[in-house]
Amino acid sequence: MSFLLQRLLFSLSFLIFSSFCLATEVSYDGRALIIDGVRKVIISGSIHYPRSTAEMWPDLIQKAKEGGLNAIETYVFWDIHEPRRREYDFEGNRDIVRFFKTIQDAGLYAILRIGPYVCAEWNYGGFPVWLHQMPGIQLRTDNEIYENEMRNFTTYIVNKIKEANLLAPQGGPIILAQIENEYGNVEGAYGEAGKRYIKWVVQLAKSLNIGVPWIMCQQGDAPLPIINTCNGYYCDDFYPDHKIPKMWTENWVGWFKDWGGLDPHRPAEDVAYSVARFFSKSGTLQNYYMYHGGTNFGRTAGGPYIVTTYDYDAPLDEYGNLRQPKWGHLKKLHEILHSMEKVLTSGERSSVKLANGVWGTTYALNDTSGCFISNTDASNDFTVSFGGNLYFVPAWSVSILPDCKNVTYNTARITTQTEIMVKKPNRAENDPEDLTWLWLPEDIEDTLDGRGTFTVPELLEQKNVTGGASDYLWYMTKVRVSKHDPMYTKHMTLRVHTKGHMLHVFFNGKHVGSNNPDTQDWEYTLEVPVIVKPSINFITLLSTTVGLTNYGDHFDTIPEGIAGGPVELVGNGNLTRNLSTNPWTYKVDLNGMEKTYWDNDKLEWRYDGIPSRSRLTWYKAIFKAPLGDDPVVVNLRGLQKGEAWVNGNSLGRFWPTKMAPSECGKCDYRGPYNPNKCTTGCGEPTQSWYHVPRSFLEADGNSLIVFEEFGGSPFSVKFATVTVGTLCVTGYHGDIVELSCPKERPILNIEFANYGNATGTCGSYHKGANDIDISSLIESACVGKTSCHIDVSKTVIGHKPPCQGSKMVVQASC
Ligand SMILES: *[C@@H]1O[C@H](CO)[C@@H](O)[C@H](O)[C@H]1NC(C)=O
Ligand SMILES: *[C@@H]1O[C@H](CO)[C@@H](O)[C@H](O)[C@H]1NC(C)=O
Ligand SMILES: *[C@@H]1O[C@H](CO)[C@@H](O)[C@H](O)[C@H]1NC(C)=O
Ligand SMILES: *[C@@H]1O[C@H](CO)[C@@H](O)[C@H](O)[C@H]1NC(C)=O
Ligand SMILES: *[C@@H]1O[C@H](CO)[C@@H](O)[C@H](O)[C@H]1NC(C)=O
Ligand SMILES: *[C@@H]1O[C@H](CO)[C@@H](O)[C@H](O)[C@H]1NC(C)=O
Ligand SMILES: *[C@@H]1O[C@H](CO)[C@@H](O)[C@H](O)[C@H]1NC(C)=O
Repeated sequence: MSFLLQRLLFSLSFLIFSSFCLATEVSYDGRALIIDGVRKVIISGSIHYPRSTAEMWPDLIQKAKEGGLNAIETYVFWDIHEPRRREYDFEGNRDIVRFFKTIQDAGLYAILRIGPYVCAEWNYGGFPVWLHQMPGIQLRTDNEIYENEMRNFTTYIVNKIKEANLLAPQGGPIILAQIENEYGNVEGAYGEAGKRYIKWVVQLAKSLNIGVPWIMCQQGDAPLPIINTCNGYYCDDFYPDHKIPKMWTENWVGWFKDWGGLDPHRPAEDVAYSVARFFSKSGTLQNYYMYHGGTNFGRTAGGPYIVTTYDYDAPLDEYGNLRQPKWGHLKKLHEILHSMEKVLTSGERSSVKLANGVWGTTYALNDTSGCFISNTDASNDFTVSFGGNLYFVPAWSVSILPDCKNVTYNTARITTQTEIMVKKPNRAENDPEDLTWLWLPEDIEDTLDGRGTFTVPELLEQKNVTGGASDYLWYMTKVRVSKHDPMYTKHMTLRVHTKGHMLHVFFNGKHVGSNNPDTQDWEYTLEVPVIVKPSINFITLLSTTVGLTNYGDHFDTIPEGIAGGPVELVGNGNLTRNLSTNPWTYKVDLNGMEKTYWDNDKLEWRYDGIPSRSRLTWYKAIFKAPLGDDPVVVNLRGLQKGEAWVNGNSLGRFWPTKMAPSECGKCDYRGPYNPNKCTTGCGEPTQSWYHVPRSFLEADGNSLIVFEEFGGSPFSVKFATVTVGTLCVTGYHGDIVELSCPKERPILNIEFANYGNATGTCGSYHKGANDIDISSLIESACVGKTSCHIDVSKTVIGHKPPCQGSKMVVQASC
């Protein structure tokens, strides 16, 4: 060997050694993931980086860590990273390297779900819409054009991750990676091609040499060593191949909302129950979907009709506040499960039936053991004998006995405080309550005249034309009607069938009709009376999409817009002229959007003659940021439908006139959860408040710009901050509970403090007949302090319990 070669080899091995010196080895067996030789309990939570801001990430991740998580999971969103083919974007909240480094800095593991199909209630499931425009392409099946694109992007992401040393064997936080996503749910619809596709996907994953295990969720036919994982509300009865660990990639902590939908809430008792059940049945990795849901900024919401908030009823709310008691109730559970890591991942498991639906589970390892008692009955409480002791187990709950004797946690017994959030104006001094508005009409002269970019004798599918570059597409044509035509009459009807979603009709330069967005479904036929000239008539149709479909087999081919029509003119005697094959001229987008009216210093906004109810209109107001550092929201009630921007950053689509149904779903945490249970917001707008991240704001001189598509008015728009208003805590004899206001604020007032059998919920408790008022005791212990501990036994000492099962209930304000 030459000296030079020796030198080269030496420096090469040094390079490899130095970049791998903090290397973490990840493998698995039939029990658990094994990290550096140790079987691990992994409790993870999903935080999608583009659903918050880079400035919010450290706080969100820190709160996840304090909540007892040891991993963060995210999808990768192809459409935001490759908005145009081979043009990449990793700026701002698209900076995945920074996101993973933030996770690493917090000392947490990361789970990378590349997909690149992600569903996620994200526009078009995360696919860039330009894929759809490629001739011959078929998505998510054995199609070479698609597979080339998927390989190209997946490789690009993996290379980026490797270059930043983010994989565990490189000393990075990423311990697992996912390819594809829930394909098993739709595979049947793709037949043999689907099977070939999955084989190809597996080969692609293997070829990428990432050095950590690959997972595929909901993919029963995933070949080893790829790990098939479970998604759902419960995964205790999921049994993968015995050679792989039982993993749960999506425990849905709530649900998403559609425009027109209610607010779903999954009770903390039920989330905790599902997690405890999973770990009592050999589960060792569990991920909350979502831990922080966040916001669908811009046009990222999926569809059709998925709202801008992606709160998901997650342990951290849309704005990043703790959602209590969910966050704290789960934190206690996580601490106990982590403390049982060794016995859960290496102990021998045995289970014994204690009553109908009640099971005692023991994990035993040499002289240590850990136990669970599960009551799966949805209505009956039980007192059971286990290991020689008697235990009371409420219906639909799991008790955890880390020493197999003492119950340290029951999923249905919440001792964490409940927090009710309030919105406060927090206006800067001299800042008036009402904003002052300027305005500009959207300029539509060109399209009213039928001017566009190309003409074909066909009504085209919308996203095929827009490539996803805009929500808006103009369809324009001319029709000549002769006086002698038997159909001719002055008053005719223009009939347009659209596959979605919004439609505005102009005839001879005048607006003649639109759909009613608040009542109409997304596919409909609109009939509009028109006054026809016995010569050439101009028809201009503006079609708007509100999020492209993101789920289902072949979801990518579901048509939107006036695809195929028909568009017809109905005249005298109902004689009909089918205009579907007329020469149609197209133009993508609105002029104001193209000229970025939402971030354009050169515009001359108008002060005078501000319209009160006008379609296709832009409004602008200058405002001061609300004081303090609590999250900021804006109430857009009064407006109808459109998009809003603060200092050039899109807050997302708004639609505060779209109302939720008038009936809410009743709530009992017992029994299997579904999103129609435990809903709130009945009879209210689905979303009237929109998140304005603090990082979008300066102290002064901020601009709010809204584009109103339908004719709402901006005059009642208001900003506010979100903070804790009311605290409530419940405790029994033997409990020590805590009341605590956030950010060092003092407890102001004890609104209710009772020992007995109070009824109602936080914010509206009622005293039982014989109950004891303990307000003065709690006041002296808590008021003026930022937090206080209450030992229930000591507080009620000397009082005879007024009824069986007496409990202490306290309600306070911050
Ligand atoms: C992706 O495609 C481009 C050409 O469009 C090519 O230059 C590049 O090498 C491809 N990347 C991979 C990883 O295949
Ligand atoms: C348990 O006992 C076995 C032998 O019976 C021993 O090999 C093992 O190291 C012990 N495990 C622990 C955690 O002490
Ligand atoms: C439960 O723990 C307490 C101490 O926290 C102990 O005094 C008691 O004996 C334990 N009970 C059982 C059944 O082990
Ligand atoms: C999209 O456009 C292409 C090219 O015009 C056409 O071949 C394809 O059928 C269109 N797809 C849909 C779904 O309309
Ligand atoms: C035209 O159709 C409408 C409804 O489709 C019907 O009410 C009306 O009677 C028809 N008119 C004639 C002249 O047939
Ligand atoms: C209108 O014309 C189109 C294109 O020729 C055709 O597909 C469609 O069936 C026609 N619709 C009606 C209602 O006649
Ligand atoms: C509360 O307890 C009292 C006394 O035991 C009893 O009469 C009353 O019915 C109870 N109320 C409720 C709502 O349980």
